[in-house]
Amino acid sequence: MICENYQEMSRQAARFIAQRILSKPNLILALPTGNTPLGFYRELVRMFKEGLIDFSKATVFNLDEFLGLPPQHPQSFRSYMQKYFWDHVNLRPESCHIPLSLPKDPDAECARYEQLIERHGGLDLAVLGIGENGHIAFNEPGTPFENLTHVAKLSLETRAREASTFGGLDKVPTHAITMGIKTIMRAREILLLASGEEKAAALSRSLKGPVTPETPASILQLHPNLTIIADSLAAKQL
Ligand code: GLP
Repeated sequence: MICENYQEMSRQAARFIAQRILSKPNLILALPTGNTPLGFYRELVRMFKEGLIDFSKATVFNLDEFLGLPPQHPQSFRSYMQKYFWDHVNLRPESCHIPLSLPKDPDAECARYEQLIERHGGLDLAVLGIGENGHIAFNEPGTPFENLTHVAKLSLETRAREASTFGGLDKVPTHAITMGIKTIMRAREILLLASGEEKAAALSRSLKGPVTPETPASILQLHPNLTIIADSLAAKQL
């Protein structure tokens, strides 16, 4: 679906979720962070306040979280989700999941998170953004498609993009916990959001290029139930 602008992309994405929750109130969702979904969360909150969506039976899992930050750090993805989404809708606190940012044993935390998703019966719908290098969640180029939730080393490119919000590159975490490509591909449905000209090349390479770990989002070509909502700038090279 190609939308005229960011606002329209956000609105369509929120309507998409509203439809899925209407047909399955206990929907199990994977959710992204970043700039792209800000408008989407704003729309979801607005629709909730207007009585159009009820999240009381839904469960949400974040795609990823930085490692090494205190959970209340303003740049943690937990803080982001509280600020833009969790705190403004009627999700039950025990239904909001995100990997721990300071786990004692990061590998054990990855296994716990993956099992928690499985125990819920798997993801009904994974909502994704896309990085300029084609990454999804924190699966950077070169990540094996077979990976489940794992500790990922962040690329310099990805860290550099975060440098200003963290107040310097040296303050940006070097690692994160992320759902793997396999975790994401097991979702019964995928919704990818893309906005802005800087995503145009990655989006076109992902959809029209070879399926290769060098472009992590290219694996989505093999998903049987994928919807992409892009604004016209991101869709420019399609
Ligand atoms: C981060 C997140 C991804 C997100 C990507 C793009 O790396 N881990 O989930 O899709 O950035 O972010 P933005 O939407 O800000 O361009």
